[in-house]
Amino acid sequence: MTGSLRDVVEQTDLLVTAGPGGVGKTSTAAALGVAAARAGRRVVVLTVDPARRLADALGLAEGEGADLPHQVELAGAPKGGELWAVMLDAQKTFDRLVREQSPSEQQADAVLGNAVYKALSGSLAGAQEYMAVERLHQLYTSGEWDLVIVDTPPSRHAIDLLEAPDRLTRFLGHPVYRALTAGQRTFARVTDAASSVFLWAVKRLAGPKLVQDVLEFFRSLAYVEPGLRKRAEEVSALLRAESTSFVVVTSPRSESVGEANHLIDALEHRGFPFGGVIANLVHPMPESFDVLSAKERAALETLEPGPLADHVAWHRELTELAESEREQLATIGTAGANVPMLELPLLDIDIHDVDGLIVLADLLT
Ligand SMILES: Nc1ncnc2c1ncn2[C@@H]1O[C@H](COP(=O)(O)OP(=O)(O)OP(=O)(O)O)[C@@H](O)[C@H]1O
Ligand SMILES: [Mg+2]
Repeated sequence: MTGSLRDVVEQTDLLVTAGPGGVGKTSTAAALGVAAARAGRRVVVLTVDPARRLADALGLAEGEGADLPHQVELAGAPKGGELWAVMLDAQKTFDRLVREQSPSEQQADAVLGNAVYKALSGSLAGAQEYMAVERLHQLYTSGEWDLVIVDTPPSRHAIDLLEAPDRLTRFLGHPVYRALTAGQRTFARVTDAASSVFLWAVKRLAGPKLVQDVLEFFRSLAYVEPGLRKRAEEVSALLRAESTSFVVVTSPRSESVGEANHLIDALEHRGFPFGGVIANLVHPMPESFDVLSAKERAALETLEPGPLADHVAWHRELTELAESEREQLATIGTAGANVPMLELPLLDIDIHDVDGLIVLADLLT
């Protein structure tokens, strides 16, 4: 591991793996957790929809309690080195947030029991991303861990995650939202005048109960709002703290590298601490024919069709592929900047259990 990535594992308090879809964010987040636990740290990995078998291996089978940290048995960890895992449950995280930020239990119940809240909270645009950072904040401030690692949701625009807290703050300041949550009297005026025709139509189409629920939802949310706003600001600051580090995971494919570069730029422009790149799924470079004598190489050029010729052709293809991957990886980072990068090979095992993670962690360290 390069010096910088080792520091990330041994010294940061909060580590975020981000990157394009399907490149191994979840696997590397868990493997970094294994590496940190083996370095003697008490670490929790927050995973977002891991593959079923990996979830089972981490003790995160669906059902009760998967959103609470579970200890993962890890052979060879020194005293104090512990690996814990927890699965993101956006709904439960949102509920916990509302409960924490409500001035009273009654007001929390009013929001949580509202049919509109139930329908909206899981599916609001960006809710999954926001809840990932919110859950991270909950784990971080619990003070139970030396290191919190968060795996990010598959997102076409990984930037969504970074902007989620700021977006929530903007939403809370939006005029439509402000009108909906305005005091009872202002509220009555707004609904009576401008939107009465609209509301009448909605009532006819959706039924008066839904309209009532919507109005009450926004009114009850108003009590929770100062807390939500304050928390969004705290989360935004935590993501930019000096002890936080973002690790960008990518594959060597050109689309992934393009997205990773975009993400690195965004991290730097928006003041998020960038720890380095993990290039995963890289084809190992086959041994070069240069080790052969000129005569041997000439013989390989004139092979009769058959298994040996096929093997030589396959060797050439693999070499070309490995070379083009290295060319892609060389384009990572802005011109001139030296981005710390670690390559992980495409393994011939599927990473679905702790043993697989240990293989990956060993390659990381
Ligand atoms: N170095 C590797 N060698 C072989 N297989 C790997 C490697 N890294 C990850 N995989 C496999 O690739 C698949 C995708 O990995 P993973 O789920 O970690 O990606 P992800 O970036 O989290 O995906 P998503 O964007 O869907 O969340 C998994 O089946 C995993 O076991
Ligand atoms: Mg994943």
